[in-house]
Amino acid sequence: MIECKDNLFTLHTKRTTYQFAADRYGFLLHTYYGPRAEGDFRRLIRGADRGFSPNPAEEGDARTYSLDTLPMECPASGVGDFREPMLSARFADGSSAVDLRFAGWELLPAKHMPEGMPGFHGGAEALCIRLRDAVTGLEAELFYGVFEDRDLITRAVRVKNGGGKPVVLTRAASACLDFARADLDVITFDGRHTMERIPNRAPAMPGVREASSRRGATSHQHNNFIALCGHGADETHGSAYGVALVYSGNFRAAVERSQFDTLRVVTGLSPDGFAWTLAPGETFDTPEAAFVYSDEGLGGMSRLMHRAIRENLCRGKWALAERPVLLNTWEAFYFDFTADEIVEAARAAADAGVDLLVLDDGWFGDRSSDRAGLGDWVVNEKKLPGGLGPLAKRVGELGLSFGLWIEPEMVNEDSALYRAHPDWALRMPGRAATRGRSQLVLDFSRAEVRDAVWAQLRAVLRSADIRYVKWDMNRSLTDVWSAALGPGRQGEAAHRFTLGVYDLLERFVTEFPDILLEGCCGGGGRFDCGMLYYSPQIWTSDNTDAVDRLMIQYGTSFAYPVSAMGAHVSAVPNEQTGRSVPLHTRGVVAMAGTFGYELDPRKLTEDERAEMRAQIALFRKYYRVIQSGEYDRLTDACAGGLTAWQHTLADKSEALVCAVTGPARANAPFECVYPRRLDPEAVYTVDGGWRATGAALMYGGIPIPFEKGDWRAVQFHLVREDV
Ligand code: GLA
Repeated sequence: MIECKDNLFTLHTKRTTYQFAADRYGFLLHTYYGPRAEGDFRRLIRGADRGFSPNPAEEGDARTYSLDTLPMECPASGVGDFREPMLSARFADGSSAVDLRFAGWELLPAKHMPEGMPGFHGGAEALCIRLRDAVTGLEAELFYGVFEDRDLITRAVRVKNGGGKPVVLTRAASACLDFARADLDVITFDGRHTMERIPNRAPAMPGVREASSRRGATSHQHNNFIALCGHGADETHGSAYGVALVYSGNFRAAVERSQFDTLRVVTGLSPDGFAWTLAPGETFDTPEAAFVYSDEGLGGMSRLMHRAIRENLCRGKWALAERPVLLNTWEAFYFDFTADEIVEAARAAADAGVDLLVLDDGWFGDRSSDRAGLGDWVVNEKKLPGGLGPLAKRVGELGLSFGLWIEPEMVNEDSALYRAHPDWALRMPGRAATRGRSQLVLDFSRAEVRDAVWAQLRAVLRSADIRYVKWDMNRSLTDVWSAALGPGRQGEAAHRFTLGVYDLLERFVTEFPDILLEGCCGGGGRFDCGMLYYSPQIWTSDNTDAVDRLMIQYGTSFAYPVSAMGAHVSAVPNEQTGRSVPLHTRGVVAMAGTFGYELDPRKLTEDERAEMRAQIALFRKYYRVIQSGEYDRLTDACAGGLTAWQHTLADKSEALVCAVTGPARANAPFECVYPRRLDPEAVYTVDGGWRATGAALMYGGIPIPFEKGDWRAVQFHLVREDV
């Protein structure tokens, strides 16, 4: 519900309230965000004479009103607020003050979607606040989406040059959240290639803590979802805020604790290198930011994010549909395969109950290693005589559907595309471009480059019965200079690249709505709400080691649902870590995602093949509770020892409790797992055998079988008796 009265704007969701107001000077002040509460929070706005915090001219000689100390809804540069700004600009006369004042509001019939970019959708109320700088004519429209049932608030900005001369935007963040207090912890999700999104939690300290990327993609190093929570908040109790950015390129999420112990969160495009010129009348849309708040701790926050992502971000027929169990060829074959070998692997997979065979890298161009071929999206007939059609058909005859890997944004210098169009790669004038994985990045800000790649890709996609595509991106952007932009506009190139990626993704989902799209960026380098608008699942990490995956999937789960996380069983010793983990454990860990295999099933023993078959059958049995159930992190996976998690249907009629023990210790203590949020009075049957009430299970725990060995996995299936 949106209330607008007396320049006070109150956005209520079912359990949260967000409020801001235009004050006597037309500055927009943030007054409250937290548990649902009625009333006018302007009483919290106070002023005092603070040294070195300047006062607007209208205040005359009074010294207690300063933008530097007020909670701002849309802070901008150059007008006396020295904290992190959302907006900065350079005007034709060289000045840089952005003095935005309230100029009106309107309730919109539909939620704003940033132009050419992803956003949450469906069932939101929408508000637009207009701000204007009277001197320069710069305007900002602040868009709010209120998803009442989801406890989700979205924000985005459209900046317009309403003046008569060009303006260069140098910062254009999506949202600011000012808290009147600083006693919160900040959680960022950080890591590296093959070890993404490990949570790091620390109290907000004076100064700025940021998660950001200058890599052209969200990055393996820092995710663009961050959380804030009370110092004492845990998985089940306390205040927890989630701050997501619906974007997949350079970003910056900054948390600043001010001199007066207030906290400011600004999230949006990275200002680093960003400069966007607006001619008179032109507009610029920022990506969308999204907030959730829960007073049920971090678990509550995650469940809000999961539901909103599944039901209001992912689109198309696959968003909520049952996904296929797949076999991916990458770790089984790398670049070295023949059509017959793929068919033989598919036969073994079919025998175990797999639904989909995904032909990963290596099927196109002159691709016998990662040094050649990218850019040439034509079938390598030496490996696959007759093309993909006959192969997909042979695979189909075995009862499997067929999927394909692509990496549209990239080019190898050793490719026909590059030889014909060397100028299509990003490159600084006069310099050799930096290579990453022996490849260059195509300038996707240019329509003709995207068109040429798309023409090749759609021909391939039409050449066979293809039901799934994995869209990869295997290097960071460097040399970000576009031949299509003049020297004064190169600060636009990185964002235009991301817009180009979104353009091609949109063409993809429009022309091939039935294909299941899985995102990928060397595993989880572009795992964000932006990509999930196009691809409902993303390959979580190139690390398939089940033990490392416990941590990676744990960290990823703070924002992203199980149905978004690609997870496969791979061979042992593991390719990334050299570790050998029991097949059963690998299965249990991969089942906490979109389940599949990444190994050569022909190399499995008879027993292992039987176990694979049993795993797939079990996954199908548990599919609903795993993929559409609510998620609980029962332990801290990064703490070592027992790691446990739980999937529970919303009506609490069924739950699956999963646990993996740590490395073996002699004469070890007994361990239990403690389920959560069951119906305390109801009786549950555990694995069709013993019975206990929800309360007995939650408070007494379920004993983990006492056995020797490293990394043993268990699953307990709880079914309420009335079901
Ligand atoms: C990336 C992906 C892998 C695989 C390879 C192929 O690293 O994350 O899953 O597709 O590329 O080159």
